[in-house]
Amino acid sequence: MQHDKTSNEPLTEDRQGEVLLQNTIDPNNTQKKLYLESYGCQMNFSDSEVVASILAQDGYATTRNIAEADLVLINTCSIRDNAEQRVRNRLTEFQHHKQQNPELVVGILGCMAERLKKNLLEEEKLVDIVAGPDAYRDLPNLISEVGTGQKAVNVLLSREETYADISPVRLDQGGISAFVTIMRGCDNMCSFCVVPFTRGRERSRDPKSIVAECHDLFNKGYREVTLLGQNVDSYRWNLSSKGELKNPTEEAMNFAQLLQAVANVSPLLRVRFSTSHPKDMTDDVLEVIASNHNVCNYIHLPVQSGNTAVLFRMNRGYTREWYLERIEAIHRIIPDCAISTDIITGFCGETDAEHRDTVSLMEKVQFDYAYMFKYSERPKTLAERKFEDDVPEEIKGKRLTEIIELQTAHSLAANERQVGTIQEVLVEGPSKRSELQFCGRNSRNSMVVFDRKQAEKGSYVQVKITGCTSATLFGELID
Ligand code: 5AD
Ligand code: SF4
Repeated sequence: MQHDKTSNEPLTEDRQGEVLLQNTIDPNNTQKKLYLESYGCQMNFSDSEVVASILAQDGYATTRNIAEADLVLINTCSIRDNAEQRVRNRLTEFQHHKQQNPELVVGILGCMAERLKKNLLEEEKLVDIVAGPDAYRDLPNLISEVGTGQKAVNVLLSREETYADISPVRLDQGGISAFVTIMRGCDNMCSFCVVPFTRGRERSRDPKSIVAECHDLFNKGYREVTLLGQNVDSYRWNLSSKGELKNPTEEAMNFAQLLQAVANVSPLLRVRFSTSHPKDMTDDVLEVIASNHNVCNYIHLPVQSGNTAVLFRMNRGYTREWYLERIEAIHRIIPDCAISTDIITGFCGETDAEHRDTVSLMEKVQFDYAYMFKYSERPKTLAERKFEDDVPEEIKGKRLTEIIELQTAHSLAANERQVGTIQEVLVEGPSKRSELQFCGRNSRNSMVVFDRKQAEKGSYVQVKITGCTSATLFGELID
């Protein structure tokens, strides 16, 4: 599977085994070759671009053909058990390549590397390198260690590493939309979540390097950036957690100010971000969205559950009422803003009545889109230590099916409301089905497909919406 150039999905989405490719021209074919596969969220894809950049400096070109690779890296996800199982299956498939080429070096990166550490070397005998999310600068050294016949591990988490000075190799040259990581780690400790253990403490990246990267992307032809962080609302530079200035001689920034600074790069550069946290999302951020045409009218605001007692057990830091007030604030400040969410079914102790509160919240909010999951207990998390994973698998599954069906109806209704309107679409390229059709997104993040005619990739066009499914809008280009 190829790197999906058009994806704007939030940090939530489990993407599976996409091969990252950089078109490096090497006429003599002597360069060392890296095959890099990524799983999980957008942050992992962004990290893989940092890895490709570090290894490009060490002489590696990327390849899509595993058979010609000298180095195979797999960037992994631990968020749910099934994400880890998928990676384990993939590792056993690599065994075959290792048998054919005993020189082949195989490394495991990312959250699974951090979570399982040295165990991976013992459990999965074919792994030579284990590198956690803060250890990518060390990859060239780790590779050399393997060259001397050792196995190499670096899973040290850092309080400072943001890879701010590394210009990520864009693995979709000629792309329109790029991810820009603005912070790493998470301090929230939601009780179900493994991320604070695998990605470490929260730290923000220097705003100057973020804005410079966005300028550079714009100059290279990109027309959309998605600012990434586990909780972008707690982005802060030179500010204490109470909002006080740390160093009076240096510029300070919160997320609303950073968003404005990135919006100022060019009116032709669209800005998106992910993920917002309901407990931290301020009206200031909403006002920046409302007052800048190029900051997209789309917010991903994970609710997880519609019941206050469950939210408390999840350690989310807000109530159902607080969440609904934040939704009201979005509608009040930003007319026509799309909202998506994440929901977990069958969290520890979830009763039928508590589940019904999630259903009623969905009915009230009418999300445009939702990512929905069955609860999967993760080792070391607060929930694993404090609560019993006591909702039977079958009930988790039934509740999940129920909310997926409800959400599909809501997504369809949201798209139907756009039929008959004229939408501004950033053209991303040919649609999946036909070269004669183009696709792109509107500000609300809906995918729009239309007849290509004279439209140019990377330009903004007006499209009259004539039809839809729950996932896609169809329309006609307006001259
Ligand atoms: N089980 C199920 N879903 C989870 N998520 C995070 N941890 C778990 C877990 N243990 C979901 C949440 C989060 C998204 C990134 O993944 O909904 O917002
Ligand atoms: Fe996990 Fe909560 Fe942090 Fe999101 S905010 S990464 S769900 S701990």
